[in-house]
Amino acid sequence: MTARQTGVGPIGIDIDEGSAVTGGSAAAGDGTRFGGAPGQDVVIRAVDIRKSFGRLEVLKGVSVSVRRGEVLAVIGPSGSGKSTLLRCFNALELPTSGTIEILGEPLATKPRRLAQQRAKMGMVFQRFHLFPHLTAIGNVTEAPVQVKGMPRAEARREGLNLLTKVGLADKADAYPAQLSGGQQQRVAIARALAMKPEVLLLDEPTSALDPELVGEVLQVIQQLAQEGMTMVLVTHEMGFARKVADRVIFMEDGAIVEEAPPEKLFTNADSPRTRRFLQQVQHD
Ligand SMILES: Nc1ncnc2c1ncn2[C@@H]1O[C@H](COP(=O)(O)OP(=O)(O)O)[C@@H](O)[C@H]1O
Ligand SMILES: [Mg+2]
Repeated sequence: MTARQTGVGPIGIDIDEGSAVTGGSAAAGDGTRFGGAPGQDVVIRAVDIRKSFGRLEVLKGVSVSVRRGEVLAVIGPSGSGKSTLLRCFNALELPTSGTIEILGEPLATKPRRLAQQRAKMGMVFQRFHLFPHLTAIGNVTEAPVQVKGMPRAEARREGLNLLTKVGLADKADAYPAQLSGGQQQRVAIARALAMKPEVLLLDEPTSALDPELVGEVLQVIQQLAQEGMTMVLVTHEMGFARKVADRVIFMEDGAIVEEAPPEKLFTNADSPRTRRFLQQVQHD
């Protein structure tokens, strides 16, 4: 899986180096780039999030904003609260205290509105979580048809475009069990994109994969970044985080220790805790 470094990637859209995305400049209008309503430059704003499970406080006052068009990487040791934070963003977990706003609006308590807000956030899990009884295209079209009421033919057309985008046009009718882990994760990404989310939340999307399959998934994520997709990426792939992220957050023990652009964080971190973690993962 190395011959993919050309200008036109497996997801079939020209990479325009000139408009690499930083700080919410995602262009819209050509139909291939992700964007959203103007004036909504902060997609997710979390303020002083705390979360306890019983007596265990796993988030201890986390504040972070995700700006439109940026890739925010979240790194940190196992158990530091990365997944819980991501799950709070899209209300898979309810914070014990603190506020989360999506596009300027607090996460709703009314189920209907909350469902609409959650649909703006695509989630990609470590273990894919595809529906095993549905084909690749079935997985991708399920939510648009069931949740949005999209006509099946239209959902299929768009779904095939998305499968083409992740390099799986020829696997549309395959079931998850017939696909490799890397292919399944690419289907999962296509499925998340099918709802036209404002932001993708990716929780260690490559850590369940055999090493030789990691690259094909990272390639898709990188191309989405280049197209301006807003993403929060929890990852242990430090080299990739450094390459693709606009900002990196280092979490430890339920708190953000340090937040910096990747060049700064990976080469010249302020906190000795950040440095120690990076040394550990780079020497493992
Ligand atoms: N549903 C849960 N019930 C109890 N404890 C949990 C639950 N989810 C996570 N935890 C605990 O919260 C801490 C943070 O977990 P997690 O957010 O998964 O960390 P990370 O993703 O950084 O590895 C861990 O100690 C974990 O055991
Ligand atoms: Mg986790």
